[in-house]
Amino acid sequence: MSDKVKVTIDGIAVEVAPGTTILNAARQIGGDIVPPAMCYYSKLEGSGGKCRTCLVKVSKGSEKDPRPMPKLVASCRTTVMDGMEVENITSPEVVEARKGVVEMLLINHPLDCPVCDQAGECSLQDLGFEHGAAQTRYEFDRRTFERIDIGDKIQLHMNRCILCYRCTYVADQLTDGRCHGVIGRGDHAEISTYIEKAVDNDYSGNMIDVCPVGALTDKTFRFKNRVWFTKPVDAHRDCPTCSGKVTLWYKGEEVIRVTARKDQYNEVEEFICNTCRFDKKSTSDWVIEGPTAIRHDSVISSNHYETLKPLPVIQKNEKLIEANLEQFQKTQKD
Ligand code: SF4
Ligand code: FES
Repeated sequence: MSDKVKVTIDGIAVEVAPGTTILNAARQIGGDIVPPAMCYYSKLEGSGGKCRTCLVKVSKGSEKDPRPMPKLVASCRTTVMDGMEVENITSPEVVEARKGVVEMLLINHPLDCPVCDQAGECSLQDLGFEHGAAQTRYEFDRRTFERIDIGDKIQLHMNRCILCYRCTYVADQLTDGRCHGVIGRGDHAEISTYIEKAVDNDYSGNMIDVCPVGALTDKTFRFKNRVWFTKPVDAHRDCPTCSGKVTLWYKGEEVIRVTARKDQYNEVEEFICNTCRFDKKSTSDWVIEGPTAIRHDSVISSNHYETLKPLPVIQKNEKLIEANLEQFQKTQKD
């Protein structure tokens, strides 16, 4: 007997190990059917279940119990069952619900992309473009906060935080003596360093990399440049603390930023230490490997916003065309 379970997502079948979540099963298939994830982070234990961007419809529960699940479920938190059938982009209900989730996330997120350091590599920007509605119904003022320095190299601009909790998992799982977290609940919830303590652990800089928006930024890079004017290059060094495998971001001859390398889901491949990130900004510190393969999420990626190609199944189905109309229109050029 096979020790794998079979799940079908948007009509594509895949066999995965028991206990795999729908999201990770979709990632094994890859492509457009993979639900977006703003809070789940495969390298951070316990992450997920906060943002609801990964909602999907389970139209058949399993071979044994084929009843559909009554509500849309978070794919990052729902494990697959043998014979399960899932709809993501082939469900008008999911497409509509996701627009609502984007609208909800943007309720408290300023549209200050022109002045935000994260512009061009912001997961929320991509999410809004690919899954959001063209207009918001929200008319009230967004909540605002003063910028806070957490540690000498990281700045928190809480206005932009979507409370995905990823940075708190980094603090918990990668650093000792955690001193920052989410305080308050509901619209009072905010990321805070308790009693204004600085986050100065060797791995604290990874919070910047896991933050999907521009809430946590690198003070050594802030306002130095727009990301699309930089040239990313993979490099490594013999580091006693971390793997030393990084991406160097060049402007001309100058290394203006060092980050961990990221995969196609915008997740860090290996966490790096603060020495590599903040203190090694000369080419001579590094062994250059070659240009970084530009990922899906970056505007450096040539014509990323034109490559959204809905699955053929959508293009042939009236209902789905209607549900995805806004997305279609965004990909068409005049
Ligand atoms: S600061 Fe960034 S990583 Fe931390 S909870 Fe907010 S959005 Fe998430
Ligand atoms: S990615 Fe699943 S709830 Fe956020």
